[in-house]
Amino acid sequence: MSSLQIARLFPKCVNTFEMCGAKTQSIVSKREISSMQNDLIKLAPSILAADFARLGEQVAEAEQAGASRIHVDVMDGHFVPNIAIGAPIVQSLRRVTRLPLETHLMISNPDDFLDEFVEAGSTSFLVHWEGNHNLHRTVQRIKTLGKGAGVAINPATPAAMLEEILPDLDQVLVMTVNPGFGHQHFLRSALPKLRRIAEMIDQINPNCELEVDGGIDEVTAPMAVAAGANVLVAGTSVFGSDKSVAAAMESLRAATTQVAQ
Ligand code: DX5
Ligand code: ZN
Repeated sequence: MSSLQIARLFPKCVNTFEMCGAKTQSIVSKREISSMQNDLIKLAPSILAADFARLGEQVAEAEQAGASRIHVDVMDGHFVPNIAIGAPIVQSLRRVTRLPLETHLMISNPDDFLDEFVEAGSTSFLVHWEGNHNLHRTVQRIKTLGKGAGVAINPATPAAMLEEILPDLDQVLVMTVNPGFGHQHFLRSALPKLRRIAEMIDQINPNCELEVDGGIDEVTAPMAVAAGANVLVAGTSVFGSDKSVAAAMESLRAATTQVAQ
């Protein structure tokens, strides 16, 4: 892990890192870094892979196991070739968890659905750069509604597209699969882009989270974290595993902790 990445993960240390460089490595032990990283790498279980007959139970398990938020994938069969999850599910989830409900809108005309999801209980929105001719307006509208705003980019979309909107964002979501389905293979070609975006965030908006979505498991999570991600969306590896939800989340955490060692 580079000093830049460490500084991004532990912003309170940033000045010390900048001033002392390598010397700081002896002040903050690897074990302390691992423990801090454990708190700072946030897991966002995606309910797309959950058993919908036991949704409340599975979300409760994720909450008890320390999930940072619940990732809700909304698909319209138009923006992506699949249909999934509407506002009534968010409304039901709102009653059974205190976790933030992060709503990933993979739909055309996201502006038309913001009010409905806010009323249902969404905490933040991830809207796509692709196909949105009024992205700035969408982001401002989300903020006016008092919700967190993030922009998602697909695998073929360059990092540079984020530059102008970045100061306004709470999150950037880098798709590490083509959106629309769970259980796809992580695209390693997204890693250099993640590194570029991590640098842009450092320079332009250091409080912005860098999140990855698609194919995150024990093998790919450490790669994403090493490239600068600090929020991991995980569907299949959390809800589709043979392990319990808690054990699956612990395995993901353990895998990312090794990045700092
Ligand atoms: C894909 C969705 C993802 C999906 C990830 O379009 O945006 O959030 O649930 O699922 P896994 O973790 O199985 O790749
Ligand atoms: Zn998603």
